[in-house]
Amino acid sequence: MNFADIRGFAFDLDGVIADTARFHTQAWHQLADQVKTPWTQELEEGLKGVGRMDSLEMILRAGGHQDEYSQEEKVALATSKNDRYQELVKTLTPADALPGMVDFLAELKAAGYRLVLASASKNAPTVLKYLQLTAAFEGVVDPSSVANGKPAPDIYLAAAKMLNLAPEQVAGVEDAAAGVAAINAAGELSIGIGSAEDLREAAVRFDSTSQVTLENIKKQLN
Ligand code: BG6
Ligand code: MG
Repeated sequence: MNFADIRGFAFDLDGVIADTARFHTQAWHQLADQVKTPWTQELEEGLKGVGRMDSLEMILRAGGHQDEYSQEEKVALATSKNDRYQELVKTLTPADALPGMVDFLAELKAAGYRLVLASASKNAPTVLKYLQLTAAFEGVVDPSSVANGKPAPDIYLAAAKMLNLAPEQVAGVEDAAAGVAAINAAGELSIGIGSAEDLREAAVRFDSTSQVTLENIKKQLN
């Protein structure tokens, strides 16, 4: 993959643009306690980037509770998690964008790159509003419009389509292993933010959002 071909960037939201991954984690942890699934580091990391109902299934399965709830009860559990999450994100302000990300978005825009959001979260438009970053993106891919959630490539392919670009012309930015897998499966350039252990499949990787600049991306690709 050639960086010179890249014309657009598709961004994950939670854990990339804002520190909202911790709010999802907090709300899922509470739900795990409620259904008596032991909370582990592995479960916490595995849930990142995964959509609402798939996350619920992962938590139930991790505790061996997958056959204990009706579909109706599962929807009620997921709704209670989402209610808690929405209470937590209400506190967000523009100051909660992760270090360097507002500057990086501005740098990309100034350099002529096209930007869309490819978050699995149905709350993404609301979170962008709290952060006052709605206008930074040309569009937000609706996660309910794609058949398969991350790690499947669907949402990143939909992002390329939204931009009228080929996958090889798009870079994706992610903090989760499931998200990096989705970008790679879409045939796009994967930029991971997180530990080498969690994001070993990322083509480019940074420990922190504050390190993400065009220059640093190009440096790693050379
Ligand atoms: C992803 C988060 O962005 O969205 C996950 O990384 C979360 O942790 C998922 O579960 C679904 O979000 P929502 O807001 O639609 O329940
Ligand atoms: Mg994320």
